[in-house]
Amino acid sequence: LKNTTIKVGILTISDTRTPSKSNVDSFDSSGQNLMKLINDYKVIDSAKVVQYDCVTDDIDKIQAKITEWCSERKVDVLLTTGGTGFSPRDVTPEATLGLVQKLTPGISQAIMNESLKITPMAMLSRAVSGIYEKTLIINLPGSSKASKECLCFVASTIPHAVSLIK
Ligand code: MTE
Repeated sequence: LKNTTIKVGILTISDTRTPSKSNVDSFDSSGQNLMKLINDYKVIDSAKVVQYDCVTDDIDKIQAKITEWCSERKVDVLLTTGGTGFSPRDVTPEATLGLVQKLTPGISQAIMNESLKITPMAMLSRAVSGIYEKTLIINLPGSSKASKECLCFVASTIPHAVSLIK
């Protein structure tokens, strides 16, 4: 990795996409798709996915993974996918808010504004974003379609955002 490479972590948060014998086929298509968009389609300039994992909808597990990736400076940008909705299981925003030192509401607002142009269902996402230590954390919704759309809305801004945090 060049020292200008933006290191990205993708964390899928889902009770149903976490590997098990019954769902190997549907295993984390959203996280895989985000990885392809970044590594192959290069939607974020100079970025590469260096960390990738799936956890269940559990605040402690989500925060443990975020802390590991951010505190050890493994990633500059941490994208979560899933767990932003209204179901009792959805706790990704709460896990993120419990850690970040600064909110980045412009990023979340941009995602919401653009998403509402595609579907009114966008208002059912409670996704947040913020800065934890030197890492920008952005919540994305869980489906492949929604997470792709939301990443693409903010992708062009990420390199400048990362350069300001460091
Ligand atoms: N945002 C975009 N851009 N496109 C979408 O299709 N789907 C919405 C919303 N955000 C959607 C979107 C739907 S249907 C839901 S329920 C919420 O994201 C929350 O998704 P999650 O619970 O998988 O995180």
